[in-house]
Amino acid sequence: MIVPTKGEIDAPSSSRKNLCLSVVEPDIKDETSFQELDMILTQYLETLSERKKYHIGYPTNMHYEYHAILAPLLQFSLNNCGDPFTQSPVDFHSKDFEVAVLDWFAQLWEIDKDEYWGYITSGGTVRAISMAFWLGTTFKGAIDDLDFVIQTLEYCGYSNDRYYIHCDAALCGLILPFIRHAKKITFKKPIGSISISGHKFLGCPMPCGIQITRKSYVSSLSKIEYINSTDATISGSRNGLTPIFLWYCLSTKGHARLQQDSKICIENARYLKDRLLEAGISAMLNEFSITVVFERPCDHKFIRHWNLCYLRGMAHVVVMPGITRETIDSFFKDLMQERNKWYQDAKALPPCLADDFGSQNCMCSDSKMHN
Ligand SMILES: Cc1ncc(COP(=O)(O)O)c(C=O)c1O
Repeated sequence: MIVPTKGEIDAPSSSRKNLCLSVVEPDIKDETSFQELDMILTQYLETLSERKKYHIGYPTNMHYEYHAILAPLLQFSLNNCGDPFTQSPVDFHSKDFEVAVLDWFAQLWEIDKDEYWGYITSGGTVRAISMAFWLGTTFKGAIDDLDFVIQTLEYCGYSNDRYYIHCDAALCGLILPFIRHAKKITFKKPIGSISISGHKFLGCPMPCGIQITRKSYVSSLSKIEYINSTDATISGSRNGLTPIFLWYCLSTKGHARLQQDSKICIENARYLKDRLLEAGISAMLNEFSITVVFERPCDHKFIRHWNLCYLRGMAHVVVMPGITRETIDSFFKDLMQERNKWYQDAKALPPCLADDFGSQNCMCSDSKMHN
């Protein structure tokens, strides 16, 4: 067996050679083979645990606290096939938990129980909508002004039966409702549907999404006799563990903890943005956002080490729950040390990001001269 060295921890795919399965070799039977499997899993677990503190570039809440309590559920195959609101002919599903989670979101987004339809999906992405609004865009974390767009549509003579608005609240759907001055996401406004990712701000160990729409839009449900259910879901079979994890997370966190997480993350994001700007590094942060966008580091190893996400001359850190000031300070210190090397001989200069960040947030020499 090849054991990854410490240096290889930055490149998890290098351990793939350990995992090759063979169709011709005999089944694993002896004690040693089982020990080898255990060792592979133990090492994988150690690598993930070690790398967790460097996972700051993507919006996944890794600080999930309930795995030990919920782990025994893994011994059952739970399938929430079909519509969550129709009873399943078998025992092994968690539709009651699913409906409880959907009802919680319906309450949050102010739509009556008998007015909405929805389900828990494998992710928060909704494609092929003509008009979509982002409550947190993927790269810069911008939050669209829904009220302004609705007012404009009304001003231009569009009645609300002539448009359909989907709100993509993948990341910020559980931040904005808990921030005092943020605009409300609510079905009291003429919106058609909302989606949110469960593995992002809330923190669920499996990727998942919650979709809610007005019941009046779900018209063409076809009854499927085999599962005794009408079905408008995309996949049919759905993971029955996910709703239980979401339900447990919402039950234990409650309003108070979600509000606290939102406040702390926004404050920490502002703290990072300020530190970067004070150090002369171009950076920006949208209002109520936790996505700090800054000048893209020059070194790919540094980007990979901190799991940073990048686009053109920019990179971002998403300050999720569990990313502490200590982690932010350690990232900042590392960035400053490395950056001094990248730009030490003045042959290369930091990029101008005035077009992306606004000249007030761009620290390149040109922008500084004009500010
Ligand atoms: C705006 C936006 N919508 C949807 C998604 C997709 O989320 P998911 O990971 O649940 O598919 C993302 C992911 O980052 C996102 O930023």
